[in-house]
Formats: sequence, C-alpha cells, structure tokens
Amino acid sequence: MNAIADDRMVSTATYDPVARGLHWLTALLVLAEYIVGNAMPHVRLAPPFAFLVQVHLALGSGLLLVVLFRILWRLTHRPPPPPPLPALQRRLAGATHFLLYLTLILMPLAGWASASAHGYPVRAFGILSLPALVPYRARLGFILGMIHADVLYWIFLALIAMHVGAALYHRFVKRDSVLSRMLPGA
Ligand code: HEM
Ligand code: HEM
Repeated sequence: MNAIADDRMVSTATYDPVARGLHWLTALLVLAEYIVGNAMPHVRLAPPFAFLVQVHLALGSGLLLVVLFRILWRLTHRPPPPPPLPALQRRLAGATHFLLYLTLILMPLAGWASASAHGYPVRAFGILSLPALVPYRARLGFILGMIHADVLYWIFLALIAMHVGAALYHRFVKRDSVLSRMLPGA
C-alpha cells in the first residue's frame, strides 16, 4: 500500500460503534455526577439520605459498571490505528487516557466507600443493589469520602479539561480528523 492510501486509511479510522457509544455515555454520566454532586446537600453536614444524594449514588455506581464493561470491551476489541501525530503527542494522549480510566474507577470506588461509611444503600441505576464497601462508620470510608470530594474531584476535572481541550484543539486549530474518531455516526 502506498503512503497516501495508508495515511487516508489512518485518518478515516474510527472507534467501533460500541466503543463510541460507551465513550459518550461515560461523558454524559460524569457530567451529570459533577452537577448533582455540587447541587446535593453536603453529606458531611446533612447526614439524612436526601433525594439528590440518592440520585448521585445511583448514577455514580451505574457509571462504575459502565466503565468496567467499557474497559473489558477495550481490552477485547482492537482500537483504530493511532492518528498520525508526533510520538510525544501520542504518548501524552495515551497517558491521559490511562489516567482518565484510572480516575473513572477510583472516583466511584471512593464515593461508594464514603456512602457505606454513612450507612447509605447503593443501588446501581436505582435497580441493582451493591454491598457495603466498608463497615458503617468506618474511618477509612470517611477519609475516602474526603479524597473523593476534595482531591480526586480536582484531579479528574484537570484531566477532563486537558482531554477536551486537546480534542477541541485538534478540531478547530489543527483541523485534523482526531475528533471524528470518536464522533457518533462517523
Ligand atoms: C465520576 C463519578 C463521580 C463524580 C464526578 C462525583 C462528584 C462528586 C461531587 C462533585 C461531590 C460533592 C463534593 C462536595 O462539594 O462536597 C461528591 C460527593 C460525594 N459523592 Fe460523588 N461523584 C462520583 C461518583 C460517586 C459514586 C459512584 C458514589 C457512591 C456510590 C459517590 C458518592 C459520593 C458521596 C458519599 C459524597 C459525599 C462525600 C463526603 O462528603 O464524604 N460519588 N461527588
Ligand atoms: C468526562 C468526560 C470524558 C471522559 C472521561 C473521556 C474519556 C476518554 C478515554 C478514556 C478515551 C480513550 C479511549 C481509548 O482509546 O480507549 C477517550 C478518547 C477520546 N475522547 Fe474522550 N472523554 C470525555 C469527554 C470527551 C469530550 C467532551 C470529547 C470531545 C470534545 C472527547 C473526545 C475524545 C476523542 C476524540 C477520543 C479519541 C482520541 C484518539 O483517538 O486518540 N472526550 N476519551
């Protein structure tokens, strides 16, 4: 295959429809969790199991299941060939994606531990009951709750800002095909 055909093949490659669907479902759930998490009463000050806290736990634990399935899918389905970018940029993108996956797991786990320490039941999408992660009133659960709300919160936000910033930079400054790799219907 000659170089031009090869480049065209790389630049039109997209993630498979399931991977793209899971990407945007993840993004939507994370956005909802940031909004509901900030709108709900402060758990440390208002221990009653308020409605918005219930929504936060239901969506967040549902997100955890979606992310586990997404990772399984990613490991068993080959992603498209990497976009034609300088090696350093490719490595930076790879590292950011890995850290996004890691935070997508740690953030819900820390929140779940906090919920268990507060004695809140956790039901994924409001349907599937999950067991308590730590015992009621366990110190570890409260510490993980603080890490969830004050540390991972900011790390995750910074990673998302870098990731979305890079996607928009490729689209509107470089005008290349990186974003279309993940767009629905591409
Ligand atoms: C990516 C997913 C998630 C995001 C972005 C997120 C975001 C947030 C935000 C913004 C807060 C409020 C911070 C504050 O101002 O105090 C919060 C608190 C909390 N979240 Fe999440 N959350 C996520 C997943 C979860 C999950 C899965 C659970 C439980 C199953 C959970 C349980 C909690 C609890 C219990 C608190 C109160 C923490 C404390 O004060 O001890 N979160 N979360
Ligand atoms: C909370 C929000 C988001 C999270 C957690 C997230 C997470 C991820 C992850 C983990 C990957 C790596 C996929 C893989 O190779 O397995 C990825 C890829 C990608 N994301 Fe996001 N994403 C979010 C939002 C967005 C948004 C808003 C955009 C666009 C404006 C976007 C555009 C892309 C693109 C274009 C790729 C493919 C990059 C490539 O092919 O190298 N993402 N995302």
